[in-house]
Amino acid sequence: MNNNTTKDSNYPQDLILEETKEQREFMEKIVLDFGHKFIHNLEQDKVYHGHPDVHGDQLHEFEIDAHTQSLEELLDTFDRNVLKTGLNPASGGHLGYIPGGGLYSSALGDFLAALTNRYAGVFYASPGAVKMENALIKWAGELIGYDQGFGGNLTSGGSIANLIALTCARHHGKTLFNEMSKSIIYCSPQAHHSIFKAIQIIGMDSYAIHKIPLDNAFKLSVAHLEQQIEVDLKAGLNPFLVIANAGSTDVGAIDPIEQVSAICKKHSIWFHVDAAYGGFFALTKTGRDKLKGLQHADSIILDPHKGLFLPYGSGIVLVKKLKHLTNTFKFDASYMQDSYKMDRISPADMSPELSKHFRGLRMWLPLKLYGPQAFANYLDEKLVLTSYLYTALLKLNFHVVCEPELTVVAFRYEANIHELGEINRINKFILKTLLDDGRIFLSSTMIDDKFTLRAALLSFRTHKNHIDLLLDLLANSLDTYSKRS
Ligand SMILES: Cc1ncc(COP(=O)(O)O)c(C=O)c1O
Repeated sequence: MNNNTTKDSNYPQDLILEETKEQREFMEKIVLDFGHKFIHNLEQDKVYHGHPDVHGDQLHEFEIDAHTQSLEELLDTFDRNVLKTGLNPASGGHLGYIPGGGLYSSALGDFLAALTNRYAGVFYASPGAVKMENALIKWAGELIGYDQGFGGNLTSGGSIANLIALTCARHHGKTLFNEMSKSIIYCSPQAHHSIFKAIQIIGMDSYAIHKIPLDNAFKLSVAHLEQQIEVDLKAGLNPFLVIANAGSTDVGAIDPIEQVSAICKKHSIWFHVDAAYGGFFALTKTGRDKLKGLQHADSIILDPHKGLFLPYGSGIVLVKKLKHLTNTFKFDASYMQDSYKMDRISPADMSPELSKHFRGLRMWLPLKLYGPQAFANYLDEKLVLTSYLYTALLKLNFHVVCEPELTVVAFRYEANIHELGEINRINKFILKTLLDDGRIFLSSTMIDDKFTLRAALLSFRTHKNHIDLLLDLLANSLDTYSKRS
């Protein structure tokens, strides 16, 4: 402890919040040992622990009062009450929803970001942090094919990235049409629900949304889109925003980006692409071929906490013309005047956030340590594993809703079953069997009103052994069901 401090009633009696080097080293060792044990046990530990206390209230262990505890005791509380409940998204057995990552190098970046606490929202306060985040935006923009003059922001995730993009689109629409009450948004019924939230937040009601029918591959039908725009124009409405998926959540479908962008261009409509899940497949050859045309989007979002395996809390919004971001989000305040002398655009000018987490370091560190090709290789592995799973599911007589475009497989068992209730019952049974076992986590959805299972392969820790285990569990579950009935 620092003994040179004046003893004064205005000062803390001891500087407990400013640990000595020895104390810091002691704490680091405990935390790092805990972290290494967690990683070491990932393969044996369950990916799904259930919700043992779903109605109970174990909060007393978390409650803050005058009572303090040792770091070891606190980590034990964390382990039992957080890590041993619900889902473990750091596990390779996590094939539900859209898996996130949890790279160790990213965690180290976060540690340093928190420790050094750079103020990454404003260039004046931390030019280095802002330049690092700008370099990441430049890299992501060039990856999707943007040329020059684009801008972007590192967000907390895809939902906020969608909100930022749609706010820009509405701001642009307002300058075009003066009033927005007759303005129409077109999207797929498979758009992520964060899109519908964002539409509500930007003050547009659901009557402004025209959902366009899908083709057999769950992609937005270009013919229907064109038709609907023509109908709306004739009715005196303002078609102002089209939203496409580059990897839908339910089935991983990629809408026909090039054709949709041509329609938007023809009618001067803002074109937004939600590539939260699919965007980073642009690192792979397969992905690049499937994602052609992304560079035409006026705005696009990607989630590094999906396709780059970062821990949760990392999204990106890119806008083709930087001025649309700054026109929407740049506000001045007299207490910020010193920072304006720099005449540099800051992240705070492109987002609703002012003070923000220095998100750049958690993404920059792994990309610089291992290089983008390492990430491409991992994504390629997931693509190969997906076609392996697809073929094996067909052999087990599962109905696969559509051929997987990227790494999501939506499937259900309905062989020789004609009654909807029975289809739903057997697939619910399969999911329950998997969750009870706990080694592989799948989630479900409703497609054509039928209970449908989904496997999404995106965790960097998912390998062939996990897919083989899933296939064994599915076969056993079918076997048990048939013996039961
Ligand atoms: C296609 C798509 N868009 C947007 C989101 C929302 O992203 P986030 O959960 O990072 O807010 C998701 C989440 O899974 C998604 O799959």
